[in-house]
Amino acid sequence: MSTLAVIPGDGIGPEVMAEVLKVHAVVEDAFGTGLKTEVLPYSADWFLEHGDVEIDIPAIGRTYGAVLLGALGDPRIPDNRHAIRIIGGLRQQLELSVNLRPVRLRTLAHCPLKHVRDVGDVDLVVVRENTEDVYVGVGGTVRGGRPGHVAMEVGVHTRWAVDRALEAAFELARSRPRHRLTLVDKSNAMPSAGPLWQSRFRALAASYPDVACDHLYVDAAAMELIRNPARFDVVVASNLFGDILSDEASMLAGGLGVAPSASYDPEDTSFFGVFEAVHGSAPDIAGTGRANPLASVMSYSLMLDRMGLRAAHRAVERAVDEVLRGDLLTPDLGGTARTDEVGDLICRAIARRDKDR
Ligand code: NAD
Ligand code: IPM
Ligand code: MN
Repeated sequence: MSTLAVIPGDGIGPEVMAEVLKVHAVVEDAFGTGLKTEVLPYSADWFLEHGDVEIDIPAIGRTYGAVLLGALGDPRIPDNRHAIRIIGGLRQQLELSVNLRPVRLRTLAHCPLKHVRDVGDVDLVVVRENTEDVYVGVGGTVRGGRPGHVAMEVGVHTRWAVDRALEAAFELARSRPRHRLTLVDKSNAMPSAGPLWQSRFRALAASYPDVACDHLYVDAAAMELIRNPARFDVVVASNLFGDILSDEASMLAGGLGVAPSASYDPEDTSFFGVFEAVHGSAPDIAGTGRANPLASVMSYSLMLDRMGLRAAHRAVERAVDEVLRGDLLTPDLGGTARTDEVGDLICRAIARRDKDR
């Protein structure tokens, strides 16, 4: 039995996480996963109260089976250092190289593209390298004659991390029906990172003859996602491109309110990873009851899957499918329901299906 660390965080983070905890209680009742939860206080409030203290991230990895994270980001901390320390710290110090960001359309009405006529045309996963690139914190401002006039943000890409992200992407492509993998980069403008990603992609492709590989520059990929989303199955990209493309891709299936993510170390069998929505703390709607809790519920579901708790995972997925096909939805999906009403609906759908088993 292990314990889940729950970090509700800021803004809508605590609102959506409250629904995840309700869902977990129902799942626990129905499937007896034995997973306990413990809430950790890290948030903007906590940082403002305690100052810039260090957080023992390795201890989190040792103590808990996984982390469920709401969102971090607060206008009172404009440089975002608390979020970087917690989210970046978890990803980098626990070496969670792989970030899966699936996008799957359930109901045509949730896709804003008029030329998408079949829900099956939007079913892709962005695999984002999660620890490197410009996120490594290498760089600074050049001080000298004109302080602050030159800023450097150095992108670091190591073969080790690139390989881990690529391998996860190839394995995922192999496991999906269409067996297709697209490398997205900017190798036409990045003469160092470009060849590293390209050569490792080609080298690994040799071991996956069953996976159909192709390549797009990131600018063209951003366009293709809108022009022809059906061409995408698994998409692999470096950290910053993966971040940007996954917000864009989320819109194909209804937006950030239904975009989950899983970050994990593919070689770690005791710590399962960090599971969080793709979205942030959404200060514009925080406190209004308008936040869609489904992205966080779906991230929780990705955790169940990664832990091998298949029956529980399937039950949550079916409940999400059912809710997304109905009309009790939050405003981002065109409805008028509140955060807690959608959470309650998911809970009832899981409990009802459990009775039918
Ligand atoms: P955001 O994802 O918080 O919000 C973007 C837009 O999407 C907003 O209009 C918001 O209302 C809407 N939205 C997001 N989640 C929603 C949901 N569940 N239901 C309905 N609508 C939703 O991005 P932002 O506004 O650029 O950033 C706000 C803060 O969040 C910033 O401090 C940013 O750094 C932080 N952030 C944190 C994470 C994270 O914790 N993993 C991710 C992204 C951004
Ligand atoms: C995300 C967020 C983070 C990122 C921010 C908050 C640092 O946008 O999780 O997608 O860029 O990775
Ligand atoms: Mn992002």
